[in-house]
Amino acid sequence: MYFYNISKEALIGSATLGVVFVAGYYIGKRKSTHSSMDIFKSHVGAKDNPIMQYVLNHSMREHPALKKLKLRTMEDSWNFIMVACEQSQLMANLARLIQAKKAIEIGVYTGYNALNIALALPEDGVLVGCDVNEDYTNIGKPFWKEAGVDHKIDLRIQPALQTLDDLIAAGEAGTFDFVFIDADKANYDNYYEKSLQLLRKGGIIAIDNVLWSGKVVNPAPDDVDTLAIDKLNKKLHHDVRINLSMLTVGDGLTLAFKL
Ligand SMILES: C[S@@+](CC[C@H](N)C(=O)[O-])C[C@H]1O[C@@H](n2cnc3c(N)ncnc32)[C@H](O)[C@@H]1O
Ligand SMILES: *[C@@H]1O[C@H](CO)[C@@H](O)[C@H](O)[C@H]1NC(C)=O
Ligand SMILES: *[C@@H]1O[C@H](CO)[C@@H](O)[C@H](O)[C@H]1NC(C)=O
Repeated sequence: MYFYNISKEALIGSATLGVVFVAGYYIGKRKSTHSSMDIFKSHVGAKDNPIMQYVLNHSMREHPALKKLKLRTMEDSWNFIMVACEQSQLMANLARLIQAKKAIEIGVYTGYNALNIALALPEDGVLVGCDVNEDYTNIGKPFWKEAGVDHKIDLRIQPALQTLDDLIAAGEAGTFDFVFIDADKANYDNYYEKSLQLLRKGGIIAIDNVLWSGKVVNPAPDDVDTLAIDKLNKKLHHDVRINLSMLTVGDGLTLAFKL
């Protein structure tokens, strides 16, 4: 399923097309090896899309270690959960734009995005990486070292909520420049609230999977992940504490700019 089918139908948004879209989505899901997640991602559903190929051919500027880490991650059976490289490059550019020194990544996996952000931070910058699975993060570590930025990545292997609470308890509220939320969806609102506390004014929270393969358009009543994402999307739309953008890059990326 290509991303332009999705966006066309999402734009028109008619009930009939909605049914076609949902049906197409489930057919796609049965055919696909990795569920159907992340249909806008260059390395998953959109990888053979000529427009996506054009975008990659004309914009990717990956550090050699990032390229190698991406290839290594592609050997892992969960590779579809990796951030899209084109989305990661955007976030690294944003981090540099706001001269970020302190960042948090909630959900590191093999650390492709952690590495990208670490490369954008100054020598004395830090990215606090939150994950519960060391098998994943261990895949990334040699590449962080190869890129010479492993000293900037402070990995905390425990539930992310605990790490965020630890940072708040350590008096670090209001000191972070950039947060990427990309872990368990049921906790998204908690991650958002704690991240907002930790962020300085003018800092950015980037939230991944806000379209959840299009499922947010018509969430099933028992689909707790989709409902949690949709609820947060609705809350952010009217949240006066931030400026807001929702992008169709990857699986949907929200940018919240703290006022
Ligand atoms: C979508 S992946 C992250 C992808 C990553 N940002 C990247 O650049 O490729 C989600 C990660 O969240 C982690 N995770 C799941 N539940 C978590 C929790 N409660 N606390 C911290 N990490 C968690 C998983 O182990 C997994 O590595
Ligand atoms: C992208 O680059 C590859 C490798 O050079 C090439 O085969 C392909 O035709 C290019 N596609 C587009 C749409 O630019
Ligand atoms: C950002 O928020 C400020 C304060 O609420 C508001 O005045 C401004 O119009 C917002 N900017 C955009 C682009 O929404």
